[in-house]
Amino acid sequence: MPLQIIVGAQWGDEGKGRIVDWFAAKADYVARYNGGDNAGHSVTVGKQLFKLHLIPSGIIHPHAVAVLGNGMVVNPKSLLDEMYSLDQAGVRVNPERLRVSHAAHLITIAHQALDKAMESARGKGNIGTTGRGIGPAYTDKARRSGLRLGDMFEHNFLERIGLHIDEANQQLSMLGAPYVNPMQVMDEYRTYAEIIRPYIVDISSELDAALRAGKRVLAEGAQGTLLDIDHGTYPFVTSSNTTAPGTLTGLGLGITAARDATVSGVCKAFQTRVGSGPFPTEVTGDLALRLRGTGENPWDEYGTTTGRARRVGWLDGVLLRYAVRVNGLTELVITKLDILSGISTLRLCTAYFAEGQRYEDIPFGPTDLEKYQPVYQEMPGWKEDVSKIRKWADLPKNARAYLDAISKLAGVPVRLVSVGPEREQIVVVS
Ligand code: IMP
Repeated sequence: MPLQIIVGAQWGDEGKGRIVDWFAAKADYVARYNGGDNAGHSVTVGKQLFKLHLIPSGIIHPHAVAVLGNGMVVNPKSLLDEMYSLDQAGVRVNPERLRVSHAAHLITIAHQALDKAMESARGKGNIGTTGRGIGPAYTDKARRSGLRLGDMFEHNFLERIGLHIDEANQQLSMLGAPYVNPMQVMDEYRTYAEIIRPYIVDISSELDAALRAGKRVLAEGAQGTLLDIDHGTYPFVTSSNTTAPGTLTGLGLGITAARDATVSGVCKAFQTRVGSGPFPTEVTGDLALRLRGTGENPWDEYGTTTGRARRVGWLDGVLLRYAVRVNGLTELVITKLDILSGISTLRLCTAYFAEGQRYEDIPFGPTDLEKYQPVYQEMPGWKEDVSKIRKWADLPKNARAYLDAISKLAGVPVRLVSVGPEREQIVVVS
C-alpha cells in the first residue's frame, strides 16, 4: 500500500491530526493537498500538545518528510510562525524534512482583509469562514491572477504583488474596509521569499519518484467531505476539494497512483460542525453541552483555528454513506468514542424523511439538507470508561454494537477506534 489517503468524513474537526500521526509512524512522506491555515490539527504526544494549521502533522515523526502540495494556499507568515513554534518544541524543521510546492498559491494580508470584509458584507447569510483569506486566494487562482510560491523568486514579483494589493484595495474600498499598505506587504514578502526559497521543490516529480521507489506516501486531507467545494453543503463550504480525489490534483499525481490506495475516512462517533449551514441531526440543551465539553480541555469541541464553539449532534449515517461514495473510502476510523460513555440511549441517523418520502441517500447531494428530518435508530449506550481499553474484545458490548451499526450503515469496515486524545489511546480493530 504505497499511497494512503486520510480524509475527514464529516464537516472537519474529526480528529484527523492524531490519526495521521498514528499512521505516519510508518510513512516516508506526509503530504497535504488542499486548504491552508484554516485547518487545525491537534496531536498530543506525552505532555506536549501540537496545534498545526499548515504543516502536516506527520512532521512530528523525525523520519517523515512533510509536504505542502500545489493544491494548497499558503500564507508565508503562518508557515514561518509554525516552523518557528515547531522548532521551539524540539521538532527539527529544515529543507530535508519539509518540502513546499512551487505551484501552491500565496495568501496575502489583502486576501485575509477581503475574506473578513466579504463575510461582514454577507451579514446574517455569512459562511462563517475562518477569516484566513482562503476563499479570496482560491478566487485569484481560479481567475488566473493568483501569485504562486514559485513566483516569489521571479524578478517581477514585487511589481506583481503591488498590483495584487492595488486591485484588492479597490475591492476593499467598495466593501468599506480599510486599505492594505502595499509597501509593507512588499517589504515583508522580500524577507519571506529568502527564508522559504530552500524549501521549494517540484512536489509532483518528487512524490512520483517516491511512489515508484516503493516509498509510503500518506496524504492528509484538511477540513472534511461536507466542506468540499463540489461535494459539500454548498455554499457553506471551503474553497478547495477536501475529498480524496483532490489528493491527485493537489499533489500532481496521476490517477493510477491511487489504484491500490487505502482511503481512510475519519469520523467522530457523533457529528459536529463549525460555521453556518444546515445540520439535520443537530442537538441543543444539556446533551449538546455534554457532547461539546466545557472548553477546559484541548479536545473539547471548540475550534482549533478560531476558538468558536462547535455545533454538535447525533452521528448522521446518511451523510456518512455519502462520504464513503464521494471519497471511495475503503475503511473508517472512529474517533472520540470515549465521549459517548454514560449516555443511556444513543441515536444513529439511518435515513431521512421529507415530503412523505423516506430517503436512504440524498438526491442531488447535500445542498438542501434543511428539508430533511432524520430517522433514528436508538441503541442502548454504555456506562464504562473506555479510555484505557486497547482491544476490541474489551470494549463494552453496546459500544461494539454501536460501532458495528456504523460500519454496516457505511458499508466499510472500522479499522481503528480512538478512545482518548493521547497517541496510544487507540483500539486496533483489524
Ligand atoms: P474557510 O475555509 O475559512 O473559507 O471557511 C469556510 C467554511 O469551512 C466555514 O464554515 C469554516 O468554519 C469551515 N472550515 C474551514 N476550515 C475548517 C476546519 O479545519 N475544520 C472545520 N471547519 C472548517
